[in-house]
Order: sequence, then C-alpha cells, then structure tokens
Amino acid sequence: MKHVLVIGATGQIGSELTMELRKRYGNENIVAGYITGAEPKGELKESGPSEIVDVTNKDMIAAVVKKYQIDTIYNLAALLSVVAEAKPQLAWKIGVDGLWNVLEVAREYKCAVFTPSSIGSFGPTTPHVQTPQDTIQRPLTMYGVSKVSTEMLSDYYYTKYGVDTRAVRFPGIISNVTPPGGGTTDYAVDIYYSAVKGEKFVCPIGEGTLMDMMYMPDALDAAIKLMEADPTKLVHRNAFNVTAMSFAPETIYQAIKKYVPDFEMVYEVDPLKQSIANSWPDSLDDSCARSEWGWNPKYDLDKMTVDMLEKLRVKLGK
Ligand code: SER
Repeated sequence: MKHVLVIGATGQIGSELTMELRKRYGNENIVAGYITGAEPKGELKESGPSEIVDVTNKDMIAAVVKKYQIDTIYNLAALLSVVAEAKPQLAWKIGVDGLWNVLEVAREYKCAVFTPSSIGSFGPTTPHVQTPQDTIQRPLTMYGVSKVSTEMLSDYYYTKYGVDTRAVRFPGIISNVTPPGGGTTDYAVDIYYSAVKGEKFVCPIGEGTLMDMMYMPDALDAAIKLMEADPTKLVHRNAFNVTAMSFAPETIYQAIKKYVPDFEMVYEVDPLKQSIANSWPDSLDDSCARSEWGWNPKYDLDKMTVDMLEKLRVKLGK
C-alpha cells in the first residue's frame, strides 16, 4: 500500500480509517474520496489530499486512481441496513454497481480492493451461534442482499481476473468521531452519547437481542492488517468473519452504569430494527481471520466503555 484511495472517506469508518492510514503511510499518500454534500472538514481536510469520488461514476474513480497512481482502494461507500430498506434501489446502485465500477478500475490499474461486508450478509436460516466462516447466507434485507453480492463479485474478480480483493464481515462498529447513519447496530453508539449527556436512553432494540460488535480502533486494525497480509496465507478472501464482542442492550447498559451510576434506559422497540437484528447472528466464529492473517482484537466491552466515555466527555464538553 503506497498510494491509497479511500472512497467514502467522510463516513463513520472512512473518516477514521483515512487518518489512521495517513499516520502509517504518510499524509500525502492517502486520498480522501468524498461526495458532494459530505465534504471533509478539519484535520481530515487539512492533513492530506481529497477528491470528489462518486462510486457510481467509473470515469471519476479512474481519473483519481490515475492522477495519484493509486495501488489500493478502500471502498466504503454503502447505505446501512435501515436506510437501505427505505431506498433499496439506491442501496444496490451504490453497493453493487458502485463496487463493479471500482473493480473495473482496479482491474485496469492493478489496484487491490477492500470492500467491507457485514453481519448483515447473514439471514434467519444462518446458524446464529458461533456462525461459521462458510455457511448459509440468505439475508432478507437489501443491505444483506447487496453485501452477499459484493462478496461474490469480489471473489469473482479475484478468480477470473486476479484482482487482489479482500474483505471482512464487520459487526456493529462503535465509535466517537463520526456517527453511523441508519444502521441496526447504531443503538450501541447512541447509548454512550445519552449516558454522557445525562439523558435517559430509549433503546430501539429489545432485551436479550444479541449482536456482534467492535470498537473502531480494532475495526481499523482489521481493515489494514488484512490488506497487509501475506496473500499466500489467505484461504478465504471475501469476506472474513471478524468480531470483538457480542452483547444485548441490557449488558451494554450495565457496562455503562458501572461508570455512570445514575444512567437510565427504557425500551421502545422499533419493529424494523428488531426484525433485522433477529435475522442476524448472535455471535460469529472468527477463527479463520485469526489463523489466516492474525486477527486479534484489543478491546472488550469494559475497555471500550472506559475509552468511549472518556472521549465523548471531551468531545461534548461534559
Ligand atoms: N452496522 C451495520 C448496520 O447496522 C451492520 O453492519 O446496518
């Protein structure tokens, strides 16, 4: 990875991944690709190059790849699960047609490509406990349908054209810089903001609903470590199960309450979010990622909670 393009660089993952890559590979070598209306700001804008890159426009991607001699593309453009249910055609256009554009450019300019998949690529018929790496993937959401398609399209470009495609299936990502937009796992971010603001949290996901989660520093590490991995060790490519923890709302609530004793939570279950959550795994088996490229998360629920509360107190001036 000498010259990297991050598509979707102002989103939840992109904004932090771009900065982490700049730290590791040099500011000028990492291009932040964004769309009109989601311009980079502050440090993200000042610290390195940025370009408008609409994933639905292949010529635009190619021009930036050529201009900066890009060799690796992190393609993070996607709609999250709840938004994708409201705009299924747009979700497909960005997620699948967009990836096709990226892969065609990657084929021509010999770039490696990382496109995250998700726990959303699984469905109700998938084994829910310790979900294996290779298993049934029949999701019912458009988010999931598009993620399974991106996994298969990425593998196709690897076997057919030798494009170096790699991916992980991210669980819910918890972070404190850029908020996620319209996902089923967003509650696990929102709950920390409520705790720090001193507000009662209204939880849209029901008690006992288990989902896999991960703190952002581990997510960044996964994305970078996989792209740096020795290709001869990779048995799988698109996409690896990765997880750091699995919890239900009452467990994260208790974890926060340990540090914010007055914190209150009530349930007001959102039927769409709940049905999506019910169709996703309770816990992933990520042993292939551990053995093929050394995946090893650093944050558990307690360590993440301490860091989230500390960072958000500074950010919100509390
Ligand atoms: N965070 C995503 C969502 O909830 C799952 O990958 O849509």
